[in-house]
Amino acid sequence: MVKHDVLDLKLAAKGKKRIEWAERDMPVLSQVKEKFAKSKMLKGKRMSACLHVTAETANLVRTLKAGGADIVLCASNPLSTQDDVAAALVAEYGIPVYAIKGEDNKTYYKHLVTAVEHAPAVTMDDGCDLVTLISSKYPEIARGVIGSMEETTTGVIRLRAMEKDGALKFPVIAVNDAQTKNLFDNRYGTGQSTVDGIIRATDFLIAGKTVVVAGYGWCGKGFAMRCKGMGANVIVLEIDPIKGLEAAMDGFRVMTMAEAAPIGDLFCTLTGDLHVIRPEHFRKMKEGAIVCNSGHFDCEIDIVGLRKLAKKEIKGVRNFVDQFVLPNGRSIYLLAEGRLVNLAAAEGHPASVMDMSFATQALATEYVIENSGRLKKKVYNVPMEIENWVATAKLKSLGISIDKLTPEQVKYLSSWQEGT
Ligand code: ADE
Repeated sequence: MVKHDVLDLKLAAKGKKRIEWAERDMPVLSQVKEKFAKSKMLKGKRMSACLHVTAETANLVRTLKAGGADIVLCASNPLSTQDDVAAALVAEYGIPVYAIKGEDNKTYYKHLVTAVEHAPAVTMDDGCDLVTLISSKYPEIARGVIGSMEETTTGVIRLRAMEKDGALKFPVIAVNDAQTKNLFDNRYGTGQSTVDGIIRATDFLIAGKTVVVAGYGWCGKGFAMRCKGMGANVIVLEIDPIKGLEAAMDGFRVMTMAEAAPIGDLFCTLTGDLHVIRPEHFRKMKEGAIVCNSGHFDCEIDIVGLRKLAKKEIKGVRNFVDQFVLPNGRSIYLLAEGRLVNLAAAEGHPASVMDMSFATQALATEYVIENSGRLKKKVYNVPMEIENWVATAKLKSLGISIDKLTPEQVKYLSSWQEGT
């Protein structure tokens, strides 16, 4: 048995079924897996992946292993692990996993350290915790890293700050910024899975409610769009004037958090930023307001501030729901301890959309290895050839054909002489 720290290996059979179910909806990643199994491009490469341990991630890790990678996996969030999947990866697929749903911060970091001590040549991150740890505390191991991939917006924000500070120790591919990732995973994945997490946690009826969406990036757009489609009155909050304008012209009410606080029935943060909802906002909220987060870190809601403000905290009024009674007598309900509600209270994005993100991850890994030594200590975009390959393969798997330019059109688009 490979080394591991998972909840219970007896869950492996259930986890395997779940992984296989997800695989049915991941045809593009399966194609990459077949390609890797033949080429063995990753043969002997030590890899550490810090990702949400889900059925979809299991299929990514199996793909990398099929390519010959010597890979270990740890959780990228203490609440997102699917324990049956973690068990199956260890017992059925021989992949070392360090992840337990609900692990405390100490265990979370112990698991990260185990992934660092694997001395990876290639790392894969979701939120940048692994890269930050290697870069700040393990200079020797950092020197051995050829490159890394980053899965999420929050992680890319941190990486760009590291690059600016000269703290980046190896090249990183911003997989999050690929169109094959954010147009689909961030928008349709987050849109659906956030609604899913909220409903599973609360049994909340969206129709007719006032839903306040903080952030109008791709994740916020997706969530706002889905809530509108389900009959909510949606309010969007932004700090970027262009995105604020976009939300207004998409038909949403746009205002400040101070204005939205007394009106909202449900608040969801999807910003990648700190303390978007603070005590001054909690004080104004209606009785029974529900507050949650679908951004990567649990810092978007000022939970310490909420705890200080509340005169009473009742944990677990339902699974993933805690009640805070404020001095004004009103109760606020916080979902999933302010961690990403879509992965904590539901199963994250559906496999069909993770198919593209994870095919892009796998091909970016191949790219990093092929270009070993040629890339600088910078944050790179995913090459367009990879994006086009993934989009073409996904269209094909959906049975969709698109037109090709005629030779006449090619010529027209590359010329400038013809006008009115
Ligand atoms: N991020 C969002 N949804 C996910 C999923 N299903 N698996 C892994 N990472 C995710």
